[in-house]
Amino acid sequence: MSKKSVAAPNTPYFTPAQKPSAGTALSESPPTLFKPIRIRDAEFQNRIWVAPMCMYSADNGKLTDYHLVHLGGLAFRGASLTIIEATSVLPNGRITPQDAGLWEDAQIAPIKKVADYVHSQGQKLGIQLAHAGRKASTSAPWLSKVRGKAVLATEDDGGWPKNVMGPSAIPWSTEGYAIPREMTLEDIADVIQAFKESAQRSVVAGIDVIEIHGAHGYLISSFLSAISNQRTDEYGGTFENRTRLLIDIIKAVRAVIPESMPLLVRVSATEWMNFAPEQWDVESTIRLAKLLPALGVDLLDVSSGGNNEAQRIEMHNHFQVGIAGQIRDALRADKITNLLIGAVGLITEAEYARDIVESKTPSMSGDCVEIEDEQDIKTKADIVLVARQFLREPEWVFRVAFRLGIDVQWPVQYGRAEFQKGSRI
Ligand SMILES: Cc1cc2nc3c(=O)[nH]c(=O)nc-3n(C[C@H](O)[C@H](O)[C@H](O)COP(=O)(O)O)c2cc1C
Repeated sequence: MSKKSVAAPNTPYFTPAQKPSAGTALSESPPTLFKPIRIRDAEFQNRIWVAPMCMYSADNGKLTDYHLVHLGGLAFRGASLTIIEATSVLPNGRITPQDAGLWEDAQIAPIKKVADYVHSQGQKLGIQLAHAGRKASTSAPWLSKVRGKAVLATEDDGGWPKNVMGPSAIPWSTEGYAIPREMTLEDIADVIQAFKESAQRSVVAGIDVIEIHGAHGYLISSFLSAISNQRTDEYGGTFENRTRLLIDIIKAVRAVIPESMPLLVRVSATEWMNFAPEQWDVESTIRLAKLLPALGVDLLDVSSGGNNEAQRIEMHNHFQVGIAGQIRDALRADKITNLLIGAVGLITEAEYARDIVESKTPSMSGDCVEIEDEQDIKTKADIVLVARQFLREPEWVFRVAFRLGIDVQWPVQYGRAEFQKGSRI
């Protein structure tokens, strides 16, 4: 055995090669959660991804060393993809003045620094491209006295309350939010162009996966809903018109990124407004989902809510994962298997994560056989995305593996810290 530590390739400084990448199963026949999955030309060593999380810590849209440490530390610990927070395609699309952005070339280098580090550790980096629409120009959440209540960022705070825009001139709330102007067709064309250019910059920055943020009441999400979108032109009214902005953006992005690069879309699958005469609901999402494979979207990341102050979320442990399963079932009932589903929300336990993606071992033909209500386990998604648990337990991937009794690769430098069999973790 060689006594020379092998260097990670394409890295300007020495760091040991992580081979196999941290988070790779070493046990034979691991559960699906720890089986590799290939999306286009990207190979993921497991089915656990770090969901995008705004840190409200960027410097004029630029990531800083804070992000290098934060994102790098998560990626290092074995998730097969770490997605950079909502990154605005235009200055007025930031949620807060400290949001990440990619509307100009100067914002590429700090993202590339994170991508280069993540790659040196054998891991992958995604980015969520976003426009906050009518929820823009607010302040970082920790500046609010009431948890969950937004505080407007005025011009003095570095905000742009007079340049907030949405499908219609309807504010998200009369408190804490600006009154948006109804976007002109020129504004819409500018946003589509900005998504396209930010996607091109993402490629230059070395990003492996792009996610389009179509959830949580931000611009695209607010166009999908007939409650927030009351336009009478080709971007409002019918389902076809309300989905037009998202579809135009998907087409613009897909056209400029490599064929080999996975493209994801996150939506709020329901806006939790059952009592409203019309809402964007799971049925609408299923209808949309069926259009996505032909547009070159590889995975639908199923979130919910955030478009209305009056939303009534039916909160329980499986509230969102169940919806992901429902969408997946509907696609499969229509024999659509080329759109993967990502589940997110309240996934904190190893067994739960395992069961969400569990599918039977591939049959002789190579097709994956779904588990249908066997011991109450049904495949609900292909990928689990986890947000808050990674902030609590950055080493969550290793804990999950340990709890499931699977040996996984740790980063070589941390090998001596591996959880010991029989210890209480
Ligand atoms: C601090 C924080 C920031 C977030 N920022 C984003 C974001 O930038 N984009 C997004 O789509 N969701 C964002 N979310 C939502 C998460 O991605 C995730 O969908 C949600 O927290 C539910 O997953 P969890 O129960 O694993 O935390 C954020 C959540 C948290 C806690």
